[in-house]
Amino acid sequence: MWEMWRQMCFWLLWLLLVVGWQKGAVVQGQLNQTLTWKVDAGHSGSLISPTLFGIFFEEINHAGGGGLWAELVNNRGFEAGGTNTPSNIAPWYPIGTKDQVWLETELSSCFERNPIALRIEVLCDENLNECGSGVGVANPGYWGMDIQAGEEYHVVFWLHSSGPITLLVAFTSSDGQTTLAQERLILDESSARDWGKQELFLKANETDHYARLSITSLKKGTIWLDQVSAMPVDTYKGHGFRPELAKMLEDMKPRFIRFPGGCYVEGGRLQNAWRWRESVGPWEERPGHFGDVWGYWSDDGIGYFEFLQLAEDLGALPVWVFNNGISHTDEVATGLIRPFVKDILDGIEFARGDITTQWGQLRSNMGHPDPFELYYIAIGNEDCGKRYYRDNYMVFFDAIKENYPDIKLITNCDGSWRQLDHPSDLYDFHIYTNANNLYSMAHQFDHVSREGPRAFVSEYAVTGRDAGTGSLLAALAEGAFMIGLELNSDLVAMASYAPLFVNNNDRRWNPDAIVFNSWQQYGTPSYWVQHFFKDSSGATLLPFSFESVNSTVPPLVASALRAHSGNPTFDYLVLKAVNFEGDPVQLKILLEGLPLNSIDASQSTITILSSSNVMDENSFSQPRKVLPNVRHFDSLESDLGVVLPPYSVLSLKLQLASLHAEI
Ligand code: AHR
Repeated sequence: MWEMWRQMCFWLLWLLLVVGWQKGAVVQGQLNQTLTWKVDAGHSGSLISPTLFGIFFEEINHAGGGGLWAELVNNRGFEAGGTNTPSNIAPWYPIGTKDQVWLETELSSCFERNPIALRIEVLCDENLNECGSGVGVANPGYWGMDIQAGEEYHVVFWLHSSGPITLLVAFTSSDGQTTLAQERLILDESSARDWGKQELFLKANETDHYARLSITSLKKGTIWLDQVSAMPVDTYKGHGFRPELAKMLEDMKPRFIRFPGGCYVEGGRLQNAWRWRESVGPWEERPGHFGDVWGYWSDDGIGYFEFLQLAEDLGALPVWVFNNGISHTDEVATGLIRPFVKDILDGIEFARGDITTQWGQLRSNMGHPDPFELYYIAIGNEDCGKRYYRDNYMVFFDAIKENYPDIKLITNCDGSWRQLDHPSDLYDFHIYTNANNLYSMAHQFDHVSREGPRAFVSEYAVTGRDAGTGSLLAALAEGAFMIGLELNSDLVAMASYAPLFVNNNDRRWNPDAIVFNSWQQYGTPSYWVQHFFKDSSGATLLPFSFESVNSTVPPLVASALRAHSGNPTFDYLVLKAVNFEGDPVQLKILLEGLPLNSIDASQSTITILSSSNVMDENSFSQPRKVLPNVRHFDSLESDLGVVLPPYSVLSLKLQLASLHAEI
């Protein structure tokens, strides 16, 4: 309650300041800085890279499995415990006592690449009333399954048994006391004898955010189970992505998506690195793997195909980062790298080859006969200093360029401070630092040589104490840094914040843009600051200057651009500024070369990201504490003015009616 009052007072005060200024009345005593912001709105400007702002998806913090990928079952093939049997099947657990049921893994699956199956020995007998309401096995998903009343779920599994069976397949509360949805599977002896696929649709009549899937029997006998999946029927664009999380990505309007890592691509050891080939084809045949850098098993439900599909669904270009034979601890010498190169060429064929090719055909069989638009590929992640990087890089580079000259290749070696000793289209640049540093890095690229490849700032964020688990302070510094990227977009072609997602139950990295659990999600201030840049990619940068009445110009980081609405009859002017100081700033905006009446006030907005405390964060209990506050102009009087609150990001989005006639 107190928090609500605090927020209300803050915004009320801010509103008073803004309204006061717009009505021409300077609020005395509150504002000690007045700035005239002169924007050359009639200038032809310079083009910002059309791919400037995108997103970086890494399988970290259970971002995919137990996150964006809507699969509810965790360890669906029982492979997470390794291929030696007996093995651990966590998080699966038995329903029933040790006198009623025994669970054990066996190398008896019908799937070649994931050989483990679960053997369920039902010891009790229904005729003797020994099995209660059923014994068997349960899966709690990723810290609970979100089961929603009225929603339908598609449950699939493979099984066979020693005799006829009647199984109860159900979503229940975690203690099994409440049944949310249930179906019965009855198989006679002949249809249960051999491995077979079973499919059921379960409709929930109650909601429980921490439910489990249970498969139980009342009859003595042996059942073998494998590859158990439970997916909500409703997923983003029908492609298996959790809708609310995917929508949060869509709302960012990303121009590209870099995937699937990060360190995840490298692996702590090469044998645990992500391999595209193991992640495609029917989901039940994917072996899954242990992501040893972030310390958890992945069923690889979200695989190479799904990442390419996600990019397409978001209207973003895929940027594939592949393992170049180098992990955190071991490396493939260049003399042995050829098979790895062949593997990557096959991967490109999978994405782009026509359906007569071996891998293009597999893509087509998976439901996408048209090639994906794969034009950007990164050779490794953060490996520049490693022993074999440069030599391995060149073998990959030559082979890819020879076969796909239109693919832009990205090196791990930072070309911002020296000339690269190898060819590349883009160089990768990562920065995690404190807020002051990142803020001052708004000028990082101002004096970098424009000779040679362009920059891909594929990972940046404020980390450490300044960031907490996602503070306003971090977002402000990131906003300033991003403005710096806009202003240097002749050099910086692409940029993405990192990491994107965190499942609150498995925080491996702080902070992140989007926080979620099995049923809730919210954006950190760092997520919301990204929204200020939705119109930037492909826009036109306009020259501007600041003039101060009292000769000292407050250190604002700002940009002005003309963005294209997609509608041929109007465009927008977008003016952004970050105030990283504790004083408000009065801004008087002069649009040179553009009469004020060419702005459609009713369609124009002022957006401000701020809060009463610069260390404020969002949370599950207060997901909207730090949110952009959007307001329409009622009218525009003779002046265009606005107050920039302390510690804030501002965006003025001005719709230019009949723009083409005016400019
Ligand atoms: O974004 C988290 C990690 O930071 C990435 O995996 C890695 O590339 C970087 O070191």
